[in-house]
Amino acid sequence: MAELSPLPQDFVWGTATSAYQIEGAVDADGRLPSIWDTFCRVPGAIDNGDTGDVACDSYHRWPEDLALLEQLGVDAYRFSIAWPRVIPTGSGPVNPAGLAYYDRLVDDLLAKGIKPFVTLYHWDLPQALQDLGGWAQRDTAYRFAEYAEVVGAKLGDRVRDWVTLNEPLCSAWIGHWEGRMAPGITDPAIAVRASYHLLLAHGLGVKALRAACPEPPSVGLVVNLSPCEPASQSAEDIRAARIADGHVNRWWLDPVGGRGFPVDMVETYGVELPEQPGDLEIIAAPTDFVGLNYYFRQIVRADDSVPRLGFSQVEGPNQEHTMLAWEVHPAGLEELILRLTKEYGAERIYITENGSAWVDHPDASFAVDDPQRTAYLEGHLAACARAVEQGAPLAGYFAWSLLDNFEWAYGYDPRFGLAYVDYATGTRVLKTSGKRYADLIRAHRR
Ligand code: FCB
Repeated sequence: MAELSPLPQDFVWGTATSAYQIEGAVDADGRLPSIWDTFCRVPGAIDNGDTGDVACDSYHRWPEDLALLEQLGVDAYRFSIAWPRVIPTGSGPVNPAGLAYYDRLVDDLLAKGIKPFVTLYHWDLPQALQDLGGWAQRDTAYRFAEYAEVVGAKLGDRVRDWVTLNEPLCSAWIGHWEGRMAPGITDPAIAVRASYHLLLAHGLGVKALRAACPEPPSVGLVVNLSPCEPASQSAEDIRAARIADGHVNRWWLDPVGGRGFPVDMVETYGVELPEQPGDLEIIAAPTDFVGLNYYFRQIVRADDSVPRLGFSQVEGPNQEHTMLAWEVHPAGLEELILRLTKEYGAERIYITENGSAWVDHPDASFAVDDPQRTAYLEGHLAACARAVEQGAPLAGYFAWSLLDNFEWAYGYDPRFGLAYVDYATGTRVLKTSGKRYADLIRAHRR
């Protein structure tokens, strides 16, 4: 692979997971349902009828997860906190037992010299808040800020690095427009309102964390971006790519970057924003980094059959596609890092997720040789190194994921882990890709 030496000496090497995807124990110690517990019960919503009820059972087996992190030799671990464990009804009483789980996890990570990168919201909204309207309601943003304050006050003496929300695009567009994720709503007007309130929650959350954490926190938003390219040079396809870029990238980056919501997209959606005076300043609250999740680019063509948006995706031209049919295109990562740097003036960027799902073939001891995942990892790290060479302030990389887990509507079939999980026994074993990652980290430190 290409030389990784241009990565800065203090580059943060990490892996990422999220609460609902790994923890299981959905009714332990006072946790109440989230929108994902509910969505998993909708017939046909999740492949194979899978649920997060048990997942990797990390709520009980977290010492094994920590052992994997040690084997990898990472500097940092990005995990998320389950709001329905901490404030089970979404607002009101705090559940000390729920907080205690993360308190201990943080202590044990620090004892091993691993920095906790905490995500407050990775899609598991307490169902009680959904029953009141969820992200379509402005109040939910304020409930999020209260929750952020509770967690910041408890962990902020030890946790420095915080993510408010993970991928608001998925919460808003996939959860409320396409209905393929919780809460499974298919209403563009509700989706636009949800997107707005999610960004408001982010801004309020930044403020709440800064007020609550005893030590000054480093806070950012995690966005999933994709370069959007026209399928042809026709004027229609070029316009379609511009709208796709607005929907996927600019809708999130512009308002948090202080540019307001993109006017062309407000027109495209045809939905009045629930804006109140002062909101745009809250949404644009200064942050300390941008978290970029990257999986694929989008090649789009004009498509009149798609209401409002008028575009659809076509298959990318590269040979290789993962088992989710996501095109492997490392150059897209380099492009996005440079865009954040040049167009949005980002001063610190982390790749907060990047990874790939393949069909694994474990042997009798659950060892997995995964050349495709290994090549994907190397290819994308090389793209990071190229971006750094061109001056991008890239500060770290978190591989998705530490271990195989519940891949949302796709259930357990797609395996993204650097470690294989045998779901029948809970056993975890590093794959070849994980070992390679450990080697790269070691080599970088030399
Ligand atoms: C991202 C999610 C993450 C995981 C990966 C594959 O969109 O943030 O939880 O499912 O995709």
